[in-house]
Amino acid sequence: MLRNVILGVINRPFVRRLATGGLGRKVALRFVAGEDIEHAVDAIRAINAEGASASADYLGENVTDLEQAKAAAGVYIATLDRIAGEGLSANISVKLTQLGLDVDAFDLIEGIVARAAEIKTSVTLDMEDHRYTERTVETAVRLGHAHPGAVAVALQAYLHRTPADLERLVEAKVGIRLCKGAYSESGEIAYRKRGEVDAAFARLANRLLTSASYAMIATHDERLIQHLLKQIERVRRTPGTYEFQMLYGVRRELQRRLDAEGYRLRVYVPFGREWYPYLMRRIAERPANVRFFLESLAR
Ligand code: FDA
Repeated sequence: MLRNVILGVINRPFVRRLATGGLGRKVALRFVAGEDIEHAVDAIRAINAEGASASADYLGENVTDLEQAKAAAGVYIATLDRIAGEGLSANISVKLTQLGLDVDAFDLIEGIVARAAEIKTSVTLDMEDHRYTERTVETAVRLGHAHPGAVAVALQAYLHRTPADLERLVEAKVGIRLCKGAYSESGEIAYRKRGEVDAAFARLANRLLTSASYAMIATHDERLIQHLLKQIERVRRTPGTYEFQMLYGVRRELQRRLDAEGYRLRVYVPFGREWYPYLMRRIAERPANVRFFLESLAR
């Protein structure tokens, strides 16, 4: 409920002004590695030193100008060069609307995936709001054919269409990152109750774990993770064919525990100046974050 209220006001100028001031920036640093590529590389090194991998996300979305999209693609290529040059255990996550999905710039994402394939890493397409779902799935299938093994895509458990998308992607042998979903979607196309979303996640994860696709379980929900660990054992899923994924700055102790227990873990590392919508989605996910955020502003 509170989540939908927050997601509903993030484009109001007053809210944006309040949140992007100096204090908002401080709060952002809990969830974002920093504004520059150097900050991301430092965070990835620290994550690698603890035994986990990373996925670097250069923040930005809804770009409607080709030059901006090209600039974002340039930062992604530079990030891949750093990953290769420094032997980091990392891949990248991209939002298609940052790379010109709205201005039809397929060659930008194709160039990034080709470079990732060259250095033997991969690109995961983040999933944005429902207006982009079909095009993102289509793009993933197309890229998956051209660069097998180098592309994966996020699917959102809350969308009613996801079981069918999951089958399409399994068929196309594209890796799948399953998450609950972070946007405000209507009850006509999405589950809105927490219990329903969790049940959908469990059903989809059970299916994903019996498929041949590389499975990325992206959640900090310990109850779901415990359920899935049993499922992984039951279906005899081989290590190396699945991983857990969590966000930078969220449930660090759970991240360390999974790591210590020998499970593959990848931490999603956002960086860049356009952290505002990302921060607001993180705040909306948890009522305690709203309190933390408001208290920081009041102080
Ligand atoms: P849930 O929200 O139930 O949280 C479980 C527990 O985790 C909470 O009780 C709390 O302890 C902790 N927690 C969760 N979120 C927190 C936060 N923000 N701050 C502090 N604690 C928090 N979504 C999307 O729509 N498209 C995408 O491409 C992606 N990509 C993605 C990648 C990765 C690696 C992850 C982990 C998540 C995403 N998401 C996403 C976000 C996802 O859809 C979802 O909104 C968040 O992961 C929160 O949901 P949980 O599954 O963690 O469960």
